[in-house]
Formats: sequence, C-alpha cells, structure tokens
Amino acid sequence: MKYILANWKENKDFSQVKTWISEFKKNNFETINKEIELILMPPFPFLIYLKEELKEFSFIKIGSQDISFFEDGAYTGEVGAPNLTEITNYSLIGHSERRKYFSETNDILFQKSNLAQKYKITPIFCIRGLNDPLPSKIEFIAYEPTWAIGTNQNEPLENIIDIKNKLNIKDYQKFIYGGSVNENNFIQYINHPEINGILIGGASLIPENISKILLSL
Ligand code: PGA
Repeated sequence: MKYILANWKENKDFSQVKTWISEFKKNNFETINKEIELILMPPFPFLIYLKEELKEFSFIKIGSQDISFFEDGAYTGEVGAPNLTEITNYSLIGHSERRKYFSETNDILFQKSNLAQKYKITPIFCIRGLNDPLPSKIEFIAYEPTWAIGTNQNEPLENIIDIKNKLNIKDYQKFIYGGSVNENNFIQYINHPEINGILIGGASLIPENISKILLSL
C-alpha cells in the first residue's frame, strides 16, 4: 500500500471545500490502483463533511491535523481523541508548524500519540530530522525537513533514504516523506520501494493535482 496524505493546514472556507469535492468527483476513479490510500486532512470543521461526501470512495480515509493532549473534559477549544473516534482514521501529530507556533514538546506529542492509539486513531508522527525522538510502537513516521516545507525545495531522494536508514525503521513501520511534494515531482518518491507515502501540503489544495497523482499510479 502507498499512502498519499493531503494536509490542507488552515486553508479553505466551506464553499471552497464544496468546490474541491465537486471538482474531485468529476474524475473517474473506477480503475484506481487498489494499493493506494488517500488520507485527507482538512481543518476540523470539515472532517465529517468530507467523510460523508466522499464515502463512496473506499480508497479515501480521513485524518485530523492534530489532536488534544487532554483526553477529554473541561478544555475549551480542544478537540480530543474521543471526539474524533468514528470520524477520523488517522491523526497527524507533531507537524513542525505545531512544534514551532504552539511550542509542542516531545512529551506533549508522545501523550497525543498515546491518546490517539487508545481510541484506535492511527497517529502519523512527524519528525523534522534525526534529532526528533519517535514514540515507541509508532507505525507511521512522516519525515518533513523544515526547510523543504512550502519552499519548492523538495529534498533529494538519496538524502531521504539516508535519513530513513539512520532512523532504523522497522519492518512494520511506514516511512512517509513531506516537503514541497507536488504533482510534478511526486513520482520519484512514491515509486521508491523504501518510501511508503508522501505528505502534500500546498499542492493538495487543488483537486486536479490530487486526482492527477492518484490516476497516474
Ligand atoms: P508543502 O507542505 O507540501 O506545502 O511543502 C507539506 C507539509 O507541511 O505537510
């Protein structure tokens, strides 16, 4: 299985979400490769809407961009694992933007990862490089060098494989690359046997980009 992750970050209003869906649905996905999974990660308010609107496509799963490190209770504004269970299959944890703008520490991120797993949400744990520790028993690891995010400077393939080797990834673990991946440069990453998936930010906001990627695999 290869994984295409679409991280919309803090983008799109509701009408733009509806347009994305209607444009996406213009494609014929009947012959799509069965070994592909698309994980859509919109802002929280659109999670359930995307899940409902796209439920005819079994290759699509829904993920949140974050999860609270509190389990549940009086934490105004937070969205926790029990809120998300039955809605999301995955949760992105530790994106470099969370670490940078929200001062999320490794302890907080490990707690988030534990809570996601407790509620059967698969954490996708992001690291910026070899200095960021990984929680134990994490299945999905997304390597995203900060300098490559949103800069159009995607990391060369050989550097990514070198990082993967140094991380001592186990057989059961999935290794994802993210950072300026788009519809023009994705193929080298997704086709490489050592890379299980790609995490796409900016380019995923345009439905044609995602459908082009999906239909070329
Ligand atoms: P980008 O973002 O594709 O816009 O570089 C990737 C990410 O931050 O997840």
